[in-house]
Amino acid sequence: MIRAQSLPRMEEQKGTPPSRMQEHKDTLLRELLIETIRKQKQGIVAPLLKYCYIGKGADRFFELTRNDSYTTTESELGLFIKEQRRLMYTFENIFPFTLFALGTGDGRKIVKLAEMASQTANPNRSSLGFIGVDISAEMLLVARSLFQEKRIKFSDERYYVYDFENKSDFFNLAYFSLADAVHRKILFVITGNTLANIPDHFAFLRQLADYITMNAALSKHEKDRHERAKPELHFLVSLELGIPDREKIIQEYASPEDITFLSTPLELLGLNADNGRIEITFSEEKKRIEANYICERTILLDNLIFRHGETILVGFSYKFDYNELNQILKDTRFSVELELMSEDKKHVLLVLKDK
Ligand SMILES: C[S@@+](CC[C@H](N)C(=O)[O-])C[C@H]1O[C@@H](n2cnc3c(N)ncnc32)[C@H](O)[C@@H]1O
Repeated sequence: MIRAQSLPRMEEQKGTPPSRMQEHKDTLLRELLIETIRKQKQGIVAPLLKYCYIGKGADRFFELTRNDSYTTTESELGLFIKEQRRLMYTFENIFPFTLFALGTGDGRKIVKLAEMASQTANPNRSSLGFIGVDISAEMLLVARSLFQEKRIKFSDERYYVYDFENKSDFFNLAYFSLADAVHRKILFVITGNTLANIPDHFAFLRQLADYITMNAALSKHEKDRHERAKPELHFLVSLELGIPDREKIIQEYASPEDITFLSTPLELLGLNADNGRIEITFSEEKKRIEANYICERTILLDNLIFRHGETILVGFSYKFDYNELNQILKDTRFSVELELMSEDKKHVLLVLKDK
């Protein structure tokens, strides 16, 4: 039995040396990873990808996005710049608002969006608020220092480490962190193909749409008592569409920087090049680029056995075509306020509202 006295006192916790703290974090993360792999063994689609960004994965992701082979960030930022006027016009109509970044990442896109939003700002109106949510605390730190470096000023900024695919985290995110928003208008933002990495993107969007509808319904009720309580919610999604050149895209995902990034959780489990390798493929059936770790010898992970040739799903990125994306949005009850498409039709940016 664990007795209360056996728990470390606050002073002891404060004095915990960083290396012990790191060990502690690694142990917990390792447990999460084993739990996820156990789900895979049961046939559940549970990739490791979201855990890649934690710890040193944050620096690796930062390096990866600055590599020439990683085209997503540049093509997305290119679209933002090309369509600056239309984006600014949309922001002008919503302003003042709180930018709510789901999967904030390194913050580069947020910097661009915040600059555009602030340029539209009437000096008499209070400026932009920010709420950043990410599963990786380290990613949020990267984003925060970028905001400082670029002198991005928010009227209020808050950061939360949540897994938005986890129901209880989503609950906290939707009902509590949003209460911290300084403005009654919110622009949720999900960029960098993050939506395409979520196994059940449909359920995720549905949850968000339900939340938006629920909030609107609640606020109607609240409105009689509290005019200010009525929120107005918008949703910006930015995604890579279709596959113009399959070989090229596979090559992109198989760059040494990408493989190093994807190896982050595997290293923690002791799965290295001695006992397997990461393979990048495109699944025609599932319409997604996949990264799998192929075991090249028998491996024992806790009490899970992996035999030669067995795979662990590291991650994937769905490549929706335009019609599929529209169908998903229709089925999840969103309507499109603004649609921007890159010239090569590779990238789409949508600003949505619940129907
Ligand atoms: C592909 S990156 C995109 C980052 C950024 N939005 C961009 O456009 O560059 C995905 C980001 O979402 C975060 N993320 C992925 N899955 C998540 C989840 N389930 N809950 C919270 N954050 C998540 C990752 O840690 C990472 O920072």
